Amino acid sequence: MAEEVEASSQDVRPRLSLTSASPVPIDSVAGGEEPRQPTGISEFDRVLGGGLVAGSVVLVAGDPGVGKSTLLLQAAGRLAAGGAPVLYVSGEESPGQISLRARRLGVMEKDLLLLTEINVEAILGHLEATRPALCVIDSIQTCYTSTLTSAPGSVGQVREVAAQLIAAAKRLGVPLALVGHVTKDGAVAGPRVLEHMVDAVLTFEGEGASPYRILRGAKNRFGSTHEIGVFEMGSEGLREVLNPSATFLAQRPVDQPGSVVVVAMEGTRPILLEVQALVSPSSLALPRRMATGLDPNRLALLAAILEKRAGFALHDQDIYLNVAGGVRIEEPASDLGVACAIISSFRSRPVPFEAVCLGEVGLTGEVRTVPQLEARCKEAASLGFKQAIIPPRTGSDQPGLALKAVEVATLEDAFAVLFEKG
Ligand code: TYD
Ligand code: MG
Repeated sequence: MAEEVEASSQDVRPRLSLTSASPVPIDSVAGGEEPRQPTGISEFDRVLGGGLVAGSVVLVAGDPGVGKSTLLLQAAGRLAAGGAPVLYVSGEESPGQISLRARRLGVMEKDLLLLTEINVEAILGHLEATRPALCVIDSIQTCYTSTLTSAPGSVGQVREVAAQLIAAAKRLGVPLALVGHVTKDGAVAGPRVLEHMVDAVLTFEGEGASPYRILRGAKNRFGSTHEIGVFEMGSEGLREVLNPSATFLAQRPVDQPGSVVVVAMEGTRPILLEVQALVSPSSLALPRRMATGLDPNRLALLAAILEKRAGFALHDQDIYLNVAGGVRIEEPASDLGVACAIISSFRSRPVPFEAVCLGEVGLTGEVRTVPQLEARCKEAASLGFKQAIIPPRTGSDQPGLALKAVEVATLEDAFAVLFEKG
């Protein structure tokens, strides 16, 4: 239970008058593309949908330590380098700490203005006086409003502070970036209470010790939510990973069973990913099915299909699955690759090093078509892959593919192509 105290701050919000607007025909509304201000960090801009929109509010959510402050400080520095004033409000770190980090990141710009303040009324005053090209609030959980007596970070405070900031951003036309920590215990006063209030929610993720970070759009009123941005955390901050496929495949083992390359579409970009499976005899009554980077239910389903339709005795085997690089696979187009990785490990037979697997697997073990096959094959070919295992293509005049494609109709066909030869 969280105590809710009624806010008495109605006067700071713009009042909606009943007569201020009248209905208009939709085709008479001027509109179209919102002008955007690119931040200069192209992976960030891609996820934003091209850049910052005036008056828009973006929530950047993620675990503590993933690099939210670093990302936003770098973006703020890039914008400030272009001559636009940027206001960086921090309630988490001292000016000394932030300037030390800014020096490390190489963003010592005179137009990057630092403010250590957690009272939202004071922040609003500075926002009004500065009218920056971007205002970063790090973090929303540390801010409080004097109109409420509850502690900073409580549900009421977070919601009220955000409401005041959002109203000001819209009124002044200043883009706002809010940092929100995801709390371990289910995000009580975290980003969830803000999701419906802001224009865009971007989640910043990283997997354990991996240096790679993925910025993903969870909601975006000004762009697609399918794009991802890939970064690598180093000693000088976040570096953009412009060719994620090559990066993610760089450490792939040669001719090891259980390793298969798939091509996932992340927005408009095909990305090659290595799927690794480890199948080993289980000592448990209920064998383990563990997946990192893939929905565990999808793994259970594919294991059941392999057992029932392709006749592999996996019921007494533990199956561990991992997508290398800390990326999450969300499309069924990687099903065939996952199935092949499992069988490759189960039978200790490596999949040819220069092959990729594409296809959704249906409940009867059939291999189903995937969207944007040409784009995926092109990306694979550009990275030196020679062979693609693909679903059967229908229609008479199919465009040529960039590499040697073998069409398979069922899982058995795929396994015959990959494992039976030689
Ligand atoms: P930070 O941006 O403070 O995370 P958040 O704001 O999401 O809590 O980043 C913290 C981590 O990033 C910290 O563990 C150290 C690491 N880091 C680097 O490895 N290199 C760098 O240049 C910087 C600035 C941070
Ligand atoms: Mg931080």
